[in-house]
Amino acid sequence: MEPDRRKEILAKGRPSAFWGGEPSLGGWHTEEEVEAATRVMREAMDWTKGYAGMKETEEFEQAFARYCDTEDCVAINGGGSGLDMAMMCLDLEPEDEVISPAINFKAEHLAVIGQGARLVLCEIDPATFNADPADVERRITPRTRAIFPVHMNGLSAPMDDLLEIAERNPHPKHGPLKVIGDAARACGGGYKGGKIGKKGWMTVFSYHTQKLMTTLGEGGGITTDDPDVARRLRGLRQFGGGTGEWGTNYKMTNVQAAVGLVQLRRLDEMIARRVRLANKRTEMLQHIPEFTLPTEPPECDHTYYLYTILVPPEWAGERRDKLCAIMKEEYNVGCVVANPPTYVSHPLVKKHTEGQHLPLSDELGARLFCPSLHPLMTDENNEFICAALEETVGRVREEG
Ligand SMILES: Cc1ncc(COP(=O)(O)O)c(C=O)c1O
Repeated sequence: MEPDRRKEILAKGRPSAFWGGEPSLGGWHTEEEVEAATRVMREAMDWTKGYAGMKETEEFEQAFARYCDTEDCVAINGGGSGLDMAMMCLDLEPEDEVISPAINFKAEHLAVIGQGARLVLCEIDPATFNADPADVERRITPRTRAIFPVHMNGLSAPMDDLLEIAERNPHPKHGPLKVIGDAARACGGGYKGGKIGKKGWMTVFSYHTQKLMTTLGEGGGITTDDPDVARRLRGLRQFGGGTGEWGTNYKMTNVQAAVGLVQLRRLDEMIARRVRLANKRTEMLQHIPEFTLPTEPPECDHTYYLYTILVPPEWAGERRDKLCAIMKEEYNVGCVVANPPTYVSHPLVKKHTEGQHLPLSDELGARLFCPSLHPLMTDENNEFICAALEETVGRVREEG
């Protein structure tokens, strides 16, 4: 960006409201969502019915499964519960191991620990922030039960590579390793012409308020092609259901599901806006020598849940943090560090992974940051962020 143009953009003033690094409304709501919610509420005013039944929930499940081209989808109350349920389906024993990338949100790792198994962390590919298949394979032992990739920041994990590794390294008793995806940040993303959620044993989605679509702030779904898994998940969701096994209450409400049906219909449009902004952002930032900008491998359709930038190794930690602090304090623009390795950020994960060292993840966790991005941002908003980033990089470059 020409210096004069940058000054002109910044002179218009910073945003009056803070733009969070992970905006608190990931998608956006219209009157259609409000009408869908109030319709279900009105129907529930009939005391003989209330909120009983699962009509909207089942409709939402069918629509979401159709969207991902899967046999089934089980709607639940959150992504975190979905990851717990996925681990429950493995019937893990204390010596069993589950491999998952260290650069991650904590929910996956707590799900493994919660089921009493051993969490084995792996490195990521620095270009995609997703699990590095070669590193996953190196960490497989006869006790490995599952590979648990996250579709990081909206970009698909290399599912075919992971599935092939899972086939090639079967567990001595349980057969091919299970591959379970965490698509909390990648709802609507693409992989090899299909949607994220199709590949693997099952895939867990979140519809939390920060996510790409939301069912009134909380909610989740699990897609699968395996009818036994779907039955088990429905049992877990509602006190065992017809399975006679353990279960509790992980249900989504019908009001949420009715809103989810509208959000799902609008999901591609919401993602298209993110992609457009992200591409424009890349055009504006590409000449900044200190930045490594996000990439989209040809087999993937990125959702740009987050726009992840890397600063150079010599800027790791202190200078990256200074850049984020200036963006916040002087420009009111949030930059989230998503995510440092979980064993650095969560004491329980640290305790459970003692002795595991992931030097690449340590380094990348100190170099990455994600400036705010939201589908309702205007081109002007996006330009302001880029101008502020360029100005700030210049300052950090000079001041050290
Ligand atoms: C990667 C990832 N997994 C899981 C979750 C948990 O989802 P939820 O908030 O719906 O429980 C989140 C975010 O909240 C996430 O970002």
